[in-house]
Amino acid sequence: MTSQPTRQRILSGMQPTNDSLSIGNYIGAMTQWVALQENYDAFYMVVDLHALTVNPDPEKLKTRTRSTLAQYLAGGVDPSRSTLFLQSHVPAHAELAWILSCNTGFGELGRMTQFKDKSAKQGIEGASAGLFTYPVLMAADILLYDSALVPVGEDQRQHLELTRNLAERMNSRFGEDTFVVPEPHIVKAVAKVYDLQQPTAKMSKSEVGKGTIWLMDPPKVAAKKIKSAVTDAGTEIRFDREEKPGVSNLLTMYSVFTGQTIEQLEQEYAGKQYGHLKVDLAEIVADFLTQFQGEVHRYLDDPAELDRILATGAAKAQAVAQETLARVYDRVGLLAPGHGVA
Ligand code: AMP
Ligand code: TRP
Repeated sequence: MTSQPTRQRILSGMQPTNDSLSIGNYIGAMTQWVALQENYDAFYMVVDLHALTVNPDPEKLKTRTRSTLAQYLAGGVDPSRSTLFLQSHVPAHAELAWILSCNTGFGELGRMTQFKDKSAKQGIEGASAGLFTYPVLMAADILLYDSALVPVGEDQRQHLELTRNLAERMNSRFGEDTFVVPEPHIVKAVAKVYDLQQPTAKMSKSEVGKGTIWLMDPPKVAAKKIKSAVTDAGTEIRFDREEKPGVSNLLTMYSVFTGQTIEQLEQEYAGKQYGHLKVDLAEIVADFLTQFQGEVHRYLDDPAELDRILATGAAKAQAVAQETLARVYDRVGLLAPGHGVA
């Protein structure tokens, strides 16, 4: 038998917390997912269990889960290359999260900036325990698949660091090959897309204003948001995060959607005004969204196909996850069923 070279495993996920993903999700994460699926054994999931941390309406969660999957597919995640599944279809995620949570410090979780931000918004007393332990479930997602790389945006760096710490801690306690210690895959140029109205803050999924472009925004609405984006003092079109955060953000988007480098764009727009850049980018993004949304609807109109993709993905994911879980159960001292008297 010829042995196939084994491809390294990668894994990532997004929360189905809105009807639409944002253009930040697309640029910061999804473009990387699509690029990496060529050369890696990629596992991409919709993290529906994570979405429960903010107590969503049940019917909305179901619709949004399907819609998130359709957006992955429309964005170029290819089910014949990647394993696509729902987190809740693989029980091992919740099971491993329990084991990991018994090895995670209370203080460690309290230092997570995303928890601090989210719980501050709703008041710490109202925050769920699930919101607090959310990074442990994320660590379980990653470690279950022996993931070598995790493609995410900049805002997930701290959660990845916690995952690495947990893996190393458990490896030193239970044996070095208990877990693969994952590396973040965060591509600096695109890892943080900024709010169009406040270009020093992250474009956020909880934002309701004109600062966020949604992948499911009517193309005209998205174009308008770009045309009314806050730009900077001066007139020169040049990439400079410090002095020109607004223009730099627009140039980043432009570069992602056209494949042109920032230098090429700076040359192309030398001597032109901000308005020119915005009008052109508005059209580029509107065209992309028109095509993208056509694909999303094509998938949503074929629920049987979505179910088939999810069933295939769940079976593959379960097989890998179950093997890791059995290994970890054994390492931490849980008896395997039927072998207790051996
Ligand atoms: P979430 O929407 O929080 O589930 O995030 C899904 C993925 O998109 C994660 O990998 C995030 O790091 C990434 N992401 C979210 N917002 C942005 C943004 N504004 N810029 C770049 N990446 C982002
Ligand atoms: N916490 C991530 C976010 O909000 C989503 C996520 C959950 C994830 N599990 C993951 C990302 C595993 C990468 C790998 O964006």
